[in-house]
Amino acid sequence: MAKLIDGKAVSASVRAQVAQEVQELKAKGLHPGLAVVIVGDDPASRTYVNNKKKACAETGIYSEEYALPAATTQEELLSLVRSLNQKPEIHGILVQSPLPEGLDEEAVIEEINPQKDVDAFHPQNVGRIMIGNFHFLPCTPAGVIELIRSQGIEIAGKRCVVIGRSNIVGKPMAMLLLHNHGTVTICHSKTRDLAEICREADILVAAVGRPKFVTENMVKPGAVVIDVGMDRDENGKLCGDVDFVHVEPKAGYITPVPGGVGPMTIAMLLRNTVTAAKLQAGWKD
Ligand code: GUN
Repeated sequence: MAKLIDGKAVSASVRAQVAQEVQELKAKGLHPGLAVVIVGDDPASRTYVNNKKKACAETGIYSEEYALPAATTQEELLSLVRSLNQKPEIHGILVQSPLPEGLDEEAVIEEINPQKDVDAFHPQNVGRIMIGNFHFLPCTPAGVIELIRSQGIEIAGKRCVVIGRSNIVGKPMAMLLLHNHGTVTICHSKTRDLAEICREADILVAAVGRPKFVTENMVKPGAVVIDVGMDRDENGKLCGDVDFVHVEPKAGYITPVPGGVGPMTIAMLLRNTVTAAKLQAGWKD
């Protein structure tokens, strides 16, 4: 029986810390503010954006939403980002992805002032993460590290395997585990002997986007299994990248879906917004 890592509880504690810090900053005249930009009407994106706004309100962070039609042009979107870059009450800018067909997401990210890039997607921030001299960490991988730490699990010296190599999760996840002195392997769709490699992992992070992809034969007894997936099973029910029912008895620790990594992502976004405010106020180097 694995110990369940409760993302809701850990995220509540991060949010409480953020709320406390927001109060302290406000008392000193600094009110952290986040702008969330959504283009088009993707229902999943709409839910994420609503959750982000609600989380801001609950922690005392000022937020603005910019909901643009799917027909928005690249220039209109870039122009909005430029105006948000100039707005003093906005410290963090988040452009919800995916953007509708025809819009160049990379160009939009590059237009964001790196000090306001609370997703840490700008090439300058990605470079900073590579070097280990960063202001912000991307929300999902940062949330995973927080979950591992919350259990008092040591990463240093451990064999860590990340399945998935996306820019948002897999690559930065591997880098953060490396910064924490893990011995890291990144697996992907072309990896040979995937199950064998995964079975070596003391810490296994699944970020593939395929329902129940990680099966019991891919897990070492007692391993820490972190499930970043948000998938639908054959019945349309929400599930993760890990076959929870069969893996859970074998793992040492496991994150559920929902209620594992998911709640952490927004908590880390709030923390990044506070960091961004302090950075722009010159209160943090
Ligand atoms: N879409 C899904 N996850 C994310 C995220 O972390 N940031 C942004 N901007 N868009 C997303």
